[in-house]
Amino acid sequence: MNPDFPILDGVMHAESVPLPRIAAEVGTPVYIYSTAAIERQAQAFRAGLKPAGRTHLAFAIKSNPNLAVLRVLANQGYGADVVSGGEFLRALAAGMPAQDVVFSGVGKTRAELGLALDRGLGQFNLELEEEGHVLAAMAAERGLVAQAVLRVNPNVDAGTHAKISTGRAENKFGVPISEAGAIFSRLAGLPGLKLTGVACHIGSQLLDIAPLEVTYARMGQLVAELRAAGYTIDRVDLGGGVGVPYRPGEVPPSLDEYGAMVARVTRDWDVTLMFEPGRVLVGNAGVLLTEVIWVKPGVVNPYVIVDAAMNDLARPALYDAFHDFAAVRPTGARMTANIAGPVCETGDTFAMGRDIDAVASGDLAVLRTAGAYGATMASTYNSRALVPEVLVSGDRYAVVADRILPETIFAAERVPDWLAPAAS
Ligand code: LLP
Repeated sequence: MNPDFPILDGVMHAESVPLPRIAAEVGTPVYIYSTAAIERQAQAFRAGLKPAGRTHLAFAIKSNPNLAVLRVLANQGYGADVVSGGEFLRALAAGMPAQDVVFSGVGKTRAELGLALDRGLGQFNLELEEEGHVLAAMAAERGLVAQAVLRVNPNVDAGTHAKISTGRAENKFGVPISEAGAIFSRLAGLPGLKLTGVACHIGSQLLDIAPLEVTYARMGQLVAELRAAGYTIDRVDLGGGVGVPYRPGEVPPSLDEYGAMVARVTRDWDVTLMFEPGRVLVGNAGVLLTEVIWVKPGVVNPYVIVDAAMNDLARPALYDAFHDFAAVRPTGARMTANIAGPVCETGDTFAMGRDIDAVASGDLAVLRTAGAYGATMASTYNSRALVPEVLVSGDRYAVVADRILPETIFAAERVPDWLAPAAS
């Protein structure tokens, strides 16, 4: 299994820290990340791309925006891919240079564009022509030149879940590749804008690199066309990372194969290749530690009711995603069960009829592969606490995000004084 969450003396650890210790000291549910796992993936992604030449690696902050996680990646030489002003401020707060930050996103507001210009953002990934005109004018007004690339929609089906597919013509992202040349020509000469490249992204959790190869080949043609039309192209953003294994036995693309494919397809481009990996760097570096509240008899299978819920880990409810469930003190015994949280929705179910480690009330368990799109998508639905996060390194750990209690959340709410006092 995952070497970063080993079973030592019968108990699951994060690196060298026993998970029951974290449960006792921090409580559950809690996200736990392994520094070693993040570092290893960061290095493996970079090493895989080595044959491809000049690269710029920008961690997709949306997958895990925790400041400590960002610092780990900054120390590995990663910049950031941000999709909001908030994510940009996080990148800066974590110590990432503004120059190393790429701003993606189909709905950047004028306020966000202004913030990014004022703080020296490295690259804007433009999603539509009007955004380019507005950005150019805003930069010119400030006496600045915004570095930008044009995101194109290559119309390729990435073969992933429909809700995380981004590169089909009907998706909201990028400009149609067929119109890219014309739009490029209208934006390229604007004062305030330095447009020197193109970008693409076709989806997340890709388990097959063939659609990426098709996409990159189309990008290569576009680069050649733009150069033939006289434009300087010195950077091409090739999007996010590849998928990770969620199910036992699932085999994701190897990073070396991916890198070799990139090197082969882009061999003659002579540009800086940019990447925005998220999940592949942090997905398997995190687990969600939870306690079994009850094992409730069910009509077909028992329900293992855990103290983590859809508000803490939304992926199963949103995308029917599979997260492996494992006992912290496995005995070897197995059971077939449904796994559900306390939230008052039938959709608050992590698994149905699954063969799992046998557990009983009070036992600890983990939902694996929760390091990406886990805590960041948490909410306080049902007035539950916002889930905390812990970072482990060797035999040390630190709480890197507090549990935010419901009373802290509703302290920011107001009852206007023109409402009648509660009847007593
Ligand atoms: N760049 C862009 C422009 C993106 O839209 C995304 C992800 C990434 C990079 C990072 O992709 P990655 O390397 O993580 O595959 N919440 C969903 C995932 C949404 C991903 C959206 N875009 C989930 O939990 O599966």
